[in-house]
Amino acid sequence: MSSVKMIAVIGGGQMGSGIAQLTAMHGIDVCLLDVDSQALSTASSSISSSINRLVSKAHLSQATASEALKRLCFTTNLNDLSHADFIIEAIVESEEVKKALFLQLDKIAKSSAILASNTSSISITRLASSTTRPKQVIGMHFMNPPPVMKLIEIVRGADTSEDTFAATKALSQRLGKTVITSQDYSGFIVNRILMPMINEAFYTLYTNVATKEDIDTGMKLGTNHPMGPLELADFIGLDVCLSIMKVLHAGLGDNKYAPCPLLVQYVDAGRLGRKRGIGVYDYSKEPKSSKSSSRL
Ligand SMILES: NC(=O)c1ccc[n+]([C@@H]2O[C@H](COP(=O)([O-])OP(=O)(O)OC[C@H]3O[C@@H](n4cnc5c(N)ncnc54)[C@H](O)[C@@H]3O)[C@@H](O)[C@H]2O)c1
Repeated sequence: MSSVKMIAVIGGGQMGSGIAQLTAMHGIDVCLLDVDSQALSTASSSISSSINRLVSKAHLSQATASEALKRLCFTTNLNDLSHADFIIEAIVESEEVKKALFLQLDKIAKSSAILASNTSSISITRLASSTTRPKQVIGMHFMNPPPVMKLIEIVRGADTSEDTFAATKALSQRLGKTVITSQDYSGFIVNRILMPMINEAFYTLYTNVATKEDIDTGMKLGTNHPMGPLELADFIGLDVCLSIMKVLHAGLGDNKYAPCPLLVQYVDAGRLGRKRGIGVYDYSKEPKSSKSSSRL
C-alpha cells in the first residue's frame, strides 16, 4: 500500500516502540505517541540501541539506519497525529481505555485514515462502535517483538470493509510480514490457543506439580518450543496475560478460561515479568542489555 506515507503508533511500550521501529526501517514516516513522556524517552533509546545493534551485526546498513531514525517522531499531543494515513493503537489491554482513545481518534484523524488496534484479545467490533467509521476499524495484531516476528494476525470487525482489509494486508506485507486472518472472537487465533497453555503452566506451578524450571524445560525439550510457557509469560508481561485470560473467560463464557490464582497474585504484587525485572523469574541481577535481548 504505497499510499501510506505516515503512520501513527499510539502507546510507546514494548509493542508500540517495536511497531514504530519496524515501520521506520521500512521507509515510512512514523510518529509515536504516549501519554507518559518517560515511556517515550525509554522507547526512543530502546529503538536507537536496537537499530544500532542491527548495524553492528551488519543486518542493516548505516545509511538505512540513519534514514530510519530520521523518520521517527515522538509526541504526547494527539493533534500531531491528524495527518496520519494509518493509526495503530498499542496501549494498555483495557477495553474501557481503548474505547475512550478510539472515540478521541475518530475526532482528530483525517476522514480517510484507518484505525487499527494491536489488541491481543479485545473485540474489534466493540472498539469500532465507539467511532463513526466502523468500516475503517480493524485488528492488526503484531507478535512480540514486532521487528523480528514474521506474523501479523488481521482481525475483521463485524463492519470492517473489504477496502480496509485489503489496505491492512498490503501494509503488513510491505512491512515484510505473513498475514493470517481471524474473525472477531475473543483471543482471535493465536492467543485463543497460546494463553490457555500459559494459564495451565501457572496452574501446574500453583498446584506444585513441578518447579518453574522443570515446567519450562519440559515444554522446551519435550515439545520443541523455543521458550518455556512461564518464560514466555514473563516476556509478554503477566498483566497482559491476565487481561487476555479475563477477556477469554468473559467472552467465551467457559470456566476453563478462568485465570489461575497464582497469575492473579503475581500481577497484584507487581511481578509483571521482564519489563519490571521480576515475574515468575527474577531478572534483577541480569545486565540491562540481556533484559531486552529478545528485541533484536
Ligand atoms: N506484550 C506482548 O507480548 C503483546 C503482543 C501482542 C499484542 N500486545 C498488545 O499490545 C498492546 C500494548 O501492549 P504492551 O505489552 O506494549 O504494553 P506496555 O505496558 O509495554 O505499554 C503500554 C503503553 O501504553 C501507554 N498508554 C496507556 N494508556 C494510553 C493512552 N490512553 N494513550 C497513549 N498511551 C497510553 C502506556 O503509558 C505504556 O507506555 C496491548 O493491547 C497488548 O495486549 C502485546
